[in-house]
Amino acid sequence: MAVRPPAAAPATTTAASHPSADALLGLFPPGTSTAPDGALRIGGCHVGELAARYGTPALLVDEGALRARARRYADALAVRRPGSTVAFASKAFPCTAVYRLLAEEGLGVDVASGGELALALAAGTDPARVIVHGNAKTDEFLRAAVEARVGLVVIDNFDDIDRLERLLAAPAAATGSAAPDAGTYRQPVLVRVTPDIRPDTHAAVSTGQRDSKFGLLVPQAREAIARLRASDRLRLDGLHVHIGSQILDTEPFVRAVAAVAELGTFPVYDLGGGLGARYTYDDRPPSVEAYLDALTAAADALLPAGARIVIEPGRSLVAGAGVSLYRVVTVKRAHGETFVAVDGGMGDNLEVSLYGQRFEATVATRPGGGADGELCRVVGRHCESGDVLSAGVLLDDPRPGDLIAVPVTGAYTYSLANNYNAARRPPVVFCRDGRSRPVVRRETYADLMRRDLP
Ligand SMILES: Cc1ncc(COP(=O)(O)O)c(C=O)c1O
Repeated sequence: MAVRPPAAAPATTTAASHPSADALLGLFPPGTSTAPDGALRIGGCHVGELAARYGTPALLVDEGALRARARRYADALAVRRPGSTVAFASKAFPCTAVYRLLAEEGLGVDVASGGELALALAAGTDPARVIVHGNAKTDEFLRAAVEARVGLVVIDNFDDIDRLERLLAAPAAATGSAAPDAGTYRQPVLVRVTPDIRPDTHAAVSTGQRDSKFGLLVPQAREAIARLRASDRLRLDGLHVHIGSQILDTEPFVRAVAAVAELGTFPVYDLGGGLGARYTYDDRPPSVEAYLDALTAAADALLPAGARIVIEPGRSLVAGAGVSLYRVVTVKRAHGETFVAVDGGMGDNLEVSLYGQRFEATVATRPGGGADGELCRVVGRHCESGDVLSAGVLLDDPRPGDLIAVPVTGAYTYSLANNYNAARRPPVVFCRDGRSRPVVRRETYADLMRRDLP
């Protein structure tokens, strides 16, 4: 199957089709509308007012859309496979407000670091609903997970087993949490299986292939299962599989279910995340329902009837609720191209540079590209030519000072944001029913210096 190259060449301005107003709004969170002056309203909030209040760049989240998406996932899974659970893959958007919101909607959480665990717990997530991942889990991370009594730790390698057994044997870890079960506690675990499946997605986010750094190939998984069955410190609850991200076809997910089914009968099967989001007019990811139809049909056919299914969506859960708002700093017309340079870029959205992800964009106060829209390359303010946000988009007469909105930025933007060029990371603003509230403030220059020692 075709695999896109690991490193993305800087996107260039090639072609664009003129989107209809409906097509454009279709990429924004459901409920996005235009105000009487023509500007976009996200969660009922006017983009001009949001920019005036919070500045730019800013990451806007339509809170209602995020809640609705979480409910859609949970309801669609519950109908198809009662008793199963959705755990938010929090690497996609690890901020306490998002953890809190999704916990309110009844979702569990997958964490892949001590930091994500700390954030999830600080947000009030029930530890029993936390699933711990990572191909290189440190003692510190595992100790925090065990002491918090997380629901599941996913065994990625044999060192995880050794480490956990050591930690649970040590009196400090076994009793340090002052838990009533100290001394007798057995940590529930899953074994992560590498099914030798390479979905059609970018190599950097493909994880289930034979040479993956994640998980255990079938023969090793069998060995881990045997070891865990003999352990009196760890309780083997089942298997885990996750084959990658931004997958636009259901067939590889079905093959992954078949791969874990071969390894035996367990009470829990965590089938990971990976469903693609719709970033561009041309993307056609399966709906949540179509994805779950395929996944649960495979589970019903191949896995034990009473087994609990867990899924871990990240990207497809949060991407569509986010919109990045920028201000145009300069417009340069040269070599037949129009470069629209904004006040953000690869500091707040690394997806383009890392994976060649394509995004659409529009002038937020004149959405739609205009009848004579100009073919533009929206670029960032950072010192790399690869710092592109959106290539080949039609914008309506872009000028310095205009606001640019980039839809579908709720996933892996906040989490991959960085301080390149000492940029201050943007705020996160929840918008709902015409009201906005900041849930993460903009970084300050003082923040940038906070860790520097004299
Ligand atoms: C173990 C695991 N589960 C779930 C996910 C979420 O994937 P996605 O955001 O594509 O749904 C990831 C991310 O790669 C992951 O590593």
